Amino acid sequence: MAETNYGLVGLAVMGANLTLNFAHHGIPMAVYNRTSSVTEKFLAGEAQGKPITGADNVRDFIGLMQRPRRIIILVKAGPAVDAVINELRPFLEEGDVIIDGGNSFFQDTIRRDREFQGTGLYFVGMGVSGGEEGARYGPSLMPGGPREAYDLLEPALSKVAAQVADGPCVTYIGPHGAGHYVKTVHNGIEYGDIQLIAETYNIMKHALGLSAPEMSEIFARWNEGRLNSFLVEIASTVLGFIDADTDKPLVDLILDEAEQKGTGRWTSQNAIELGVPIPTIDAAVWSRGISALKEERVHASSILQGPRLDGSANGSGRYDREHLINALESALYAAKVSSYAQGFALLRIASDTYGFELNLSELARIWKGGCIIRAELLNTIQQAFEQDPSDRPMNLLLAPHFAQEINNLQSDWRYVTGVARELGVPTPAMNASLDYYDSYRAERLPANLVQGLRDLFGAHTYRRVDKEGYFHTQWEARPEPELVEAVPTVPPAVTGEDDPVEQTTETSRT
Ligand code: 6PG
Repeated sequence: MAETNYGLVGLAVMGANLTLNFAHHGIPMAVYNRTSSVTEKFLAGEAQGKPITGADNVRDFIGLMQRPRRIIILVKAGPAVDAVINELRPFLEEGDVIIDGGNSFFQDTIRRDREFQGTGLYFVGMGVSGGEEGARYGPSLMPGGPREAYDLLEPALSKVAAQVADGPCVTYIGPHGAGHYVKTVHNGIEYGDIQLIAETYNIMKHALGLSAPEMSEIFARWNEGRLNSFLVEIASTVLGFIDADTDKPLVDLILDEAEQKGTGRWTSQNAIELGVPIPTIDAAVWSRGISALKEERVHASSILQGPRLDGSANGSGRYDREHLINALESALYAAKVSSYAQGFALLRIASDTYGFELNLSELARIWKGGCIIRAELLNTIQQAFEQDPSDRPMNLLLAPHFAQEINNLQSDWRYVTGVARELGVPTPAMNASLDYYDSYRAERLPANLVQGLRDLFGAHTYRRVDKEGYFHTQWEARPEPELVEAVPTVPPAVTGEDDPVEQTTETSRT
């Protein structure tokens, strides 16, 4: 076989397809899988006649590559990644690069990056999006870690990545765990998109009583406009699919319990940690959770009632079909913009917090092809963040194009959420997107009352709009404690609730 620097460990679906992709672009590959029968099967099957060779042990696998070696690991995120690294480490030499291409938790990637520092070896944490087909024909790649390691990988990654009009869907994301962090947020946005599409389908189904094939056509039409995206396209495909055994739409036969592998939840957990609001993604995560309570929901459906509608059990005949379908298109688009605004706001804050130095415009660019959230909308997002730093919007909702669009769409958006409320159809993500929009644009929120309550029960202090400083008020006249006969007792526990702020105490009752 021709000489190569590239190897791959883990020949499950993603690993096998990525290997074929590299080989297709003339990059010879060495492969290794812990279970050697998997390697043998791959070499005798799909890899036949391609510049791909394999070994059944790590020493021989390493021997198949020239230095500096570039070894991609594609195994289940978590301990399996450390196990493979530990297996490879004794055989690696100065300058070799390990690339973890799985959906690893970004804090694990930060730890691994640290463990590699000073060893002469490099560790790259690379997000790979696009599923099986992306891996084979062009994924979106999000590599993070040492810049010099990226420079070594760049020529090959640029070939295997998806290609869009303005280049390959790969860029240097940033140091340490930046690549896996960005992939995690990509997945969070993916959760939001999927949930918004599912809610739109559910409103259409309940309000208009449309069949799955009818809705398939509507999604296909929407995909030709501003909603153009991979997920809207495949929504049309899934809704239009007829089960050969029953001659019914397959979607109607699929159990309504959504599963998850964890990246959406990580996005929400991290956002909570950083104090960044991403309610649409949160709603998508908990929606999967409540969907999994199938038995409880079936039981509850016979006890808890929804709104009483005159006539039919659903909304059929109640709403003007064309008007509602058009409003749903606007609402889905507006809710999606709001969700992306949340995701990009999280990326911006995380970049500052972790020193990732993210280029938001570049992220939008590399998500335009190959990945699950590829969408027309990313062109506008890319342009919005391409501006000079002084003109760059703090939040996507403030980009003039989006601000104007949402201003025009908001009445449809509100109408749709109103219809859902009227019918009792749950729309957590659609509402969360709208509430984010309404909260973000609110000059004054009721947080003043929140502060007042906190100060009353816990002396947590508050700031005022008319004076500088922190204040505490004695809100209620305290009754004098009654004198009771003294009995020996233990001292009260210290609550530890003191805020470390300099306080100006305002004791007068207001
Ligand atoms: C991608 C996807 C992929 C993941 C799905 C499923 O970008 O190619 O994000 O990495 O398999 O997101 O994730 P859940 O099982 O959590 O829905």
